[in-house]
Amino acid sequence: PAASPIKHLIDTRDVERDELERLLDLITALKEADADGAVPRLLEGRSLGMIFEEPSTRTRVSFEVAMAKLGGHALYLKPGEIHLGARESLYDTAKVLSRMCDVIEARTLSHGTVTALAQAAEVPVINGLTDFNHPTQAICDVLTMREHLPPGRTLADATIVFVGDRTNVCSSTMFIAAQFGMRFVHAAPPAYQAPPDWVGAARAIAETTGGSVEVTADVEDAVAGADFVYTDLWWWVDQEDEIPARRAAFLPRYQVDAELFARAPSHARFMHCLPASRGVEVTDEVIDHERSIVFDQAENRLHAEKGILVWLTYPTVRRASPALR
Ligand code: CP
Repeated sequence: PAASPIKHLIDTRDVERDELERLLDLITALKEADADGAVPRLLEGRSLGMIFEEPSTRTRVSFEVAMAKLGGHALYLKPGEIHLGARESLYDTAKVLSRMCDVIEARTLSHGTVTALAQAAEVPVINGLTDFNHPTQAICDVLTMREHLPPGRTLADATIVFVGDRTNVCSSTMFIAAQFGMRFVHAAPPAYQAPPDWVGAARAIAETTGGSVEVTADVEDAVAGADFVYTDLWWWVDQEDEIPARRAAFLPRYQVDAELFARAPSHARFMHCLPASRGVEVTDEVIDHERSIVFDQAENRLHAEKGILVWLTYPTVRRASPALR
């Protein structure tokens, strides 16, 4: 079949760096408009179908509020409450939602589910997190880093050190950092380091942008060069039987505590996509530190979703009934 003309957001690597830069500028403009109480109602009368196979606070609330601010409407399709993949094929679900909604957002257990939805959908599909990546978080995070760069610095001059497990947020951060020409370092015990296929793909991007990608177990050395220190949960709900092994691997060396954060330069910022396990991968004194920007990140999810929704839908892409084409 011919390639779909519909633009989706499944992986930031599908989007050229220049287009990502323009998207960040659009998000910033919408954020400034929001601060003035003047968000344009660019999605008046449009609907967003939000599929969630897992719980969410930030992704759900940010997309729902973003649609309301843009004049549209969002439907929260709770885990287990639609026929997704069980009594109805992914293909049929994508086709039906495409006839009723203007955009689909999906948080799915498997990355293959969101790609299958996008292949069948006739409206844009946004990946709201899978077992592989989290592109909306990554876009939010580069925006947040851009806002918190030391004076006179650009993202291409900056180093981000991701401490801990090779999560879906780790993969997305690695790829988008490479796209923006940043120096990315993953600091983790060997068994939890980013796999060679991710690193190879990210290095191939970095070679074209002037960035670099490193993986190390030496977290103290890595943090010493960080402009941004990022961490994420050490286990997710389906990894609870691994908790003892994971705690043993990460503690105490890879916990971002005051001692580890003090090794970073005095301007370094602390980042976390949230939710956080306080006292596990990060201590209270770091997450609540004056140089922690975790709640700026969380707020920026809202602004990023507004920009992403407008970028994908306005003005060229319309929900098109086959009868009207
Ligand atoms: N960071 C993030 O995606 O948070 P939620 O799981 O609450 O959506």
